[in-house]
Amino acid sequence: MADSNHTPINLAPINLAEVEARALGRLSPMARDYYASGATDEVTLRWNREAYERIALRPRTFVDVSARDLSTTVLGRRHVWPVLIAPAAFQRLAHPDGEAAVARAAAAEGVTVTLSTLSSTSIEDVAAAAPGSPRWFQLYVFRDRVLTRGLVERAEAAGYEALVLTVDAPLLGRRERDARNRFTLPDGITAANLTGAVASVSSDGSDSGLFQFFASQIDPALTWADLEWLCSITRLPVIVKGVLRADDAARAIEAGARGVIVSNHGGRQLDGAVASIDALPEVVEAVADRASVLVDGGVRRGTDILKAFALGADAVLLGRPILWGLVDGEPGVRHVLQLLRAEFDLAMALSGCPSRAAVTRDLIV
Ligand code: FNR
Ligand code: LAC
Repeated sequence: MADSNHTPINLAPINLAEVEARALGRLSPMARDYYASGATDEVTLRWNREAYERIALRPRTFVDVSARDLSTTVLGRRHVWPVLIAPAAFQRLAHPDGEAAVARAAAAEGVTVTLSTLSSTSIEDVAAAAPGSPRWFQLYVFRDRVLTRGLVERAEAAGYEALVLTVDAPLLGRRERDARNRFTLPDGITAANLTGAVASVSSDGSDSGLFQFFASQIDPALTWADLEWLCSITRLPVIVKGVLRADDAARAIEAGARGVIVSNHGGRQLDGAVASIDALPEVVEAVADRASVLVDGGVRRGTDILKAFALGADAVLLGRPILWGLVDGEPGVRHVLQLLRAEFDLAMALSGCPSRAAVTRDLIV
C-alpha cells in the first residue's frame, strides 16, 4: 500500500534508458532479442554509444538563450526540431497498434516517420491511420524488380514524401540471438507490404527466418546503376541510408541522391564498422552543401543531437528508443519524443546556442 503521507511517485520514465529498461521486461524474448541485438560481438553497437560519450562540448557563455529555435532544414523542408524516426521492421511485435501508433505519435510531435519495407502494417494502412503525418518510405531492393517498383509506386500513391534506400544490407548481419531463437514472426504478424509465403518470414528451423528471408529475397548485387535506376523511376527525392565513407557519399549525390544517412544500421550489419557519429565529419565535408546529411545510431540524449549538429548533421534519426516507447503504444512513443526534445532544448540553452546557426564545429573540443 502506498504511504499516504508521501507524494505519489511519478512512475513515468525520466529518460530513454528507463524507457528501455521498462520495455525489455515486457517484450517476448524473441521480440526483445530482435530489437535489442547487434551483429556478432555487438562491438559497433557499443561504439555507437561510446563515441557520443567521448565527444566533449565547449559551451559558450554570455549568450541570450531566452528564446530558442530548435528547427532545422532537411530536403528543403523545415522540421520543428532535428529528429526523425528511423525505419524499423515489424513494430507490431511491440504493440498491436505498431506502425500506426508510431506514425500518429510522430505527427502529434511534429516528427517525420520512416516506414520500413518490412513493416507489419501496410504502406496504405499507415497512411490511413495517420493521414496528416509527414512520412518517408524505406526501400529494400528485391531480386524481383517488379515487386520493388510496385513498392515505390504504392509509397508515392499513399503520400510518402521521400524514399530511403538502405544500402548496408545486401545480406542480413549475423545477429546471434536471432539465430539461436530461429527468429520468426508470430501468428497474426506479417511483412504486411508483401504477399504469399514470404510475408510470414518463417524459419526453416536452421537459422533466423529473417536472415533466410534476406538471403533469398533481397538483391545482393546492388550497384550505382541501381541507384540511378531508382532515381529515374520516381518523382520522390531519394536518400541513401547506410553510408560511412566520404567517397560513397559523394558518389551517391552524383548519382542523384538528395541526401545521405550516415549509419551502421544500429550496429546490426557489419560488426566492427565505425561508429556513425565518427564517420559523420568526412561525409559532411564530402557532401558540402549539395544535399542533406543525417546520422543515426546511438542517439539517446539531447546532448547527442547537439553533438551531431555541431559535426554538421542536418538532423538525427531514432531507432530503438521508439520501439521501447511503443511498448506503451502511441502515448509511449510521444513520451520518448517529448523527453528527448526537452533534453535537446536544455542542451541548446546550456551550450549558448539559441538556434541551429550557433551550433558550429568549435562547440566540440
Ligand atoms: C532497424 N533498422 C532498419 N533499417 C532499415 O533501413 N530498414 C529496416 O527495416 C530496419 N529495421 C530495423 C529493425 C530494428 C529492430 C532495429 C533496431 C533497427 C535500422 C534503423 O533504421 C537505424 O539505422 C538504427 O536503429 C539506428 O540506431 P539506434 O537508434 O537503434 O541506436
Ligand atoms: C533489421 C532489418 C530488417 O535490421 O533492417 O532487422
